[in-house]
Amino acid sequence: MALRAAIPFARSLTLYTNLQRRFGLGYGGVGPAPPQWLAFLAEMEPLRTPEQRLDWTRSFYLTAPDDLPPADQRSFGCFRCDPPDVAGVLRIHFSNRDSADDVGPLSRAKTPRRLAELKTMFAFVRETWPRTRTVQGRSWLYNLDAYRRLFPPAYGDSRAPPAGRVGLGGTSSWGQFLDHREAVKPDLRAAFLHNIEAIDVEAPWRAFPLPALGATAPIALFYDFYAV
Ligand SMILES: CC(C)(COP(=O)(O)OP(=O)(O)OC[C@H]1O[C@@H](n2cnc3c(N)ncnc32)[C@H](O)[C@@H]1OP(=O)(O)O)[C@@H](O)C(=O)NCCC(=O)NCCS
Repeated sequence: MALRAAIPFARSLTLYTNLQRRFGLGYGGVGPAPPQWLAFLAEMEPLRTPEQRLDWTRSFYLTAPDDLPPADQRSFGCFRCDPPDVAGVLRIHFSNRDSADDVGPLSRAKTPRRLAELKTMFAFVRETWPRTRTVQGRSWLYNLDAYRRLFPPAYGDSRAPPAGRVGLGGTSSWGQFLDHREAVKPDLRAAFLHNIEAIDVEAPWRAFPLPALGATAPIALFYDFYAV
């Protein structure tokens, strides 16, 4: 992206990778950059080879805070939600916090666990934010039946590419490359490396094999589905 879009290398790291988020330093390009991120970029700038850059990234990562937000009252196992916005829209998120027994969190065997987490989360939402009207998510995960089956069918059926730009500072596109052991999935990696040869700098998210999709549905469907 630095070469194709003719922008400084450091700027491309902020805008088009999720390293800042993975280092636990917030979302790239939003608000003032934290000093630790600027320090990472300053050391990175003079490095020229991919090996040097990778070594520095790895060693910085080892000293960085945990990249998952600490579990708090809005965390329910693998799920988390933000408080509803002024229009009553509740955003929901997924991260892998359950690879126990070397079984992935979306495997069918673990569906009852995930449904129990969602039931608890939506009971919390109903109790805490009764003005919630709508649920929204945005992720590559909406491509997977294994994820959609955890939600009311109308929510999964609403999935569609978002109208505007797709940010690349988080996990909504990058997350597809990881398996539940945090290893990179080779097929998706190969497809991505092929696609970026002809990347569209105006819409770089189109190079990801699985597009980030938005999903939305009224909150009442969730209360019914989980019987809360
Ligand atoms: C989500 C995540 C755990 C999936 O990794 P995984 O090793 O495939 O995980 P699981 O074993 O739990 O998934 C198994 C199920 O998902 C399906 N699946 C996973 N990736 C798939 C893909 N690329 N295409 C089709 N199906 C896929 C499998 O077929 C399986 O479904 P089945 O039980 O019906 O056969 C992993 O990608 C991850 O942790 N990503 C980072 C978190 C993230 O992306 N969060 C989204 C934030 S917006």
